Amino acid sequence: MSIEHLMWVEKYRPKRLDEVVNQREIVEGLKRIMGSAGGMPNMLFAGPAGVGKTTVALCIAREVLGEYWRDYTLELNASDERGINMVREKVKMFTRYTSIGSIPFKIVILDEADEMTPEAQTALRRIMEDSAGTSRFILICNYISQIIEPIQSRCVIFRFKSLAREDVVNHLANICRREGVKYEDKALEMVYEFTSGDLRHAINVLQAAASHGAVNDSSVRSALGISYKARVGEVIRAALEGNFNDARLKMLELTRVYGLSERDFIKFAGEEIMRDSSSAKSAELLRVLAEYDYRLVAGAHPDIQLTALLAELARIGKAGKVSK
Ligand SMILES: Nc1ncnc2c1ncn2[C@@H]1O[C@H](COP(=O)(O)OP(=O)(O)OP(=O)(O)O)[C@@H](O)[C@H]1O
Ligand SMILES: [Mg+2]
Repeated sequence: MSIEHLMWVEKYRPKRLDEVVNQREIVEGLKRIMGSAGGMPNMLFAGPAGVGKTTVALCIAREVLGEYWRDYTLELNASDERGINMVREKVKMFTRYTSIGSIPFKIVILDEADEMTPEAQTALRRIMEDSAGTSRFILICNYISQIIEPIQSRCVIFRFKSLAREDVVNHLANICRREGVKYEDKALEMVYEFTSGDLRHAINVLQAAASHGAVNDSSVRSALGISYKARVGEVIRAALEGNFNDARLKMLELTRVYGLSERDFIKFAGEEIMRDSSSAKSAELLRVLAEYDYRLVAGAHPDIQLTALLAELARIGKAGKVSK
């Protein structure tokens, strides 16, 4: 099973504009613009977290580019400052080497554009102009005020709103029905209260609650204050027993679905290992944990580091077995 399938936020991410929950004005505005003679302009999407910005950008790519949309879509994250040269190189490579032929242009989706410095944004603006013949950009940000004026004036701006109670509750109920999970309306309302219009967060809480069997008052409460420690313990035991893939999927579920931070993962992993500190392996295991903890603090990519950590635990677990 893939992580896309495991996580309801991905499983139920709309693929067509018509499936997007609410954001009516945006969807209609987009359809009008895309159908017009000028075709698709560069666009700037702004709005709070988890309301459909990235989803809508991907829907557009699918609808404009058709079956092979992935080949003609470049998704970038602009948030780190070293990014602008990376963006320039990638966009250049991406627009240069394939003949366009059957498609009107390629699409570059640039997330977190508001995290870029003004200098980087100026460079981005130039990149957008240089590649105007081959590409269209969809820039995504939380705060439009952080985007330099020359970029704003070259894009059609769409402001996304946080989703209304009714929309969120209906969408959650729909997911429950499709998953065959029992739910209480009041519990769905509670999920909305806690997540205030951020549908990604709402769906993640829903999935966590549903893992207790049904979505009701008590499962939602415990989903919100979920006991991470026991679950990290399961991941560590699975890794040590050599079930690396199982451990990895469970780890990703914890960090992505339940929102456990990577450092807390390591902290709980340490507690799990200390429980059995008489074992000959525990000193080595703790040394390995400390090393990965350090790497995370130093800013290494968290998913990759935690995956490598589990692989190492699996290796140590296996070595232990052989020598017994
Ligand atoms: N309007 C929506 N309609 C349907 N599903 C949505 C909508 N908004 C969010 N979702 C769900 O939440 C998930 C995250 O949405 P998305 O990635 O589009 O958020 P975003 O607005 O880009 O947030 P961020 O600013 O955090 O990147 C999607 O995978 C989808 O399951
Ligand atoms: Mg996004």
